Amino acid sequence: MNLKQQAAHYALQSVRSGMVLGLGSGSTTAYFVDMLGEAIQQGKIDHILAVPTSEATTRQAQKLGIILTSLDKNPVLDLAVDGADEVDPQLNLIKGLGRACLREKVVEIHADQFIIVVDESKIVQRLGTRGPLPVEILPFEAQAHVNWLNTLGCRAEFWFEDNGEIVVSDNGNYLVKCFFENGIPDVYQLNDQLAKRPGILEHGLFLDMATQVVVAGENGINTLEAKR
Ligand code: A5P
Repeated sequence: MNLKQQAAHYALQSVRSGMVLGLGSGSTTAYFVDMLGEAIQQGKIDHILAVPTSEATTRQAQKLGIILTSLDKNPVLDLAVDGADEVDPQLNLIKGLGRACLREKVVEIHADQFIIVVDESKIVQRLGTRGPLPVEILPFEAQAHVNWLNTLGCRAEFWFEDNGEIVVSDNGNYLVKCFFENGIPDVYQLNDQLAKRPGILEHGLFLDMATQVVVAGENGINTLEAKR
């Protein structure tokens, strides 16, 4: 198993029969969803319901026969499992380079337990030092939102597909990448600024949300617990 698979496999141990799960997005979560599907097919776990966070995860779960539900029908998730792009010492996260930060946050705020599965390359001292912060914006007057993001101490630019088109999320919105030269100085301040601005629909800062981070490294699994 590679490191992402090892982290996913470890997280599977937290799943119990009868749970309502949130299923994240991205390559590490895809391993988790595969392993979950296999455990259900083998009868090791049963009566699982799941809320997916992207069209890709929805399709994957459906193929595996995982029964899907909605927050409307099941507003309390026993456990959500997802990957992350960066994890800092407070277990704050950057997520969304898999393009799904809005749906992820919508779903994952409903989770009693929120387990993050990463390989050790995602651990940072300061968020924004490993890669950009993804931001989902309204296509209406999109350039104005990007211009405003550029006033926040970062270089903000549209996220482009290889064919030159702007990346569009599952929700039909545009995605932007914000590059911070030395990381994000104050993630709570930035979170507040982004929350107040019309046209900024969501962003990849997930603060005070993770309850556990499963880190797979060359020396094995290390789990980090939130101190809240
Ligand atoms: C999806 O939008 C993201 O939040 C992913 O969880 C994140 O990008 C990590 O992805 P990988 O597991 O593919 O590294």
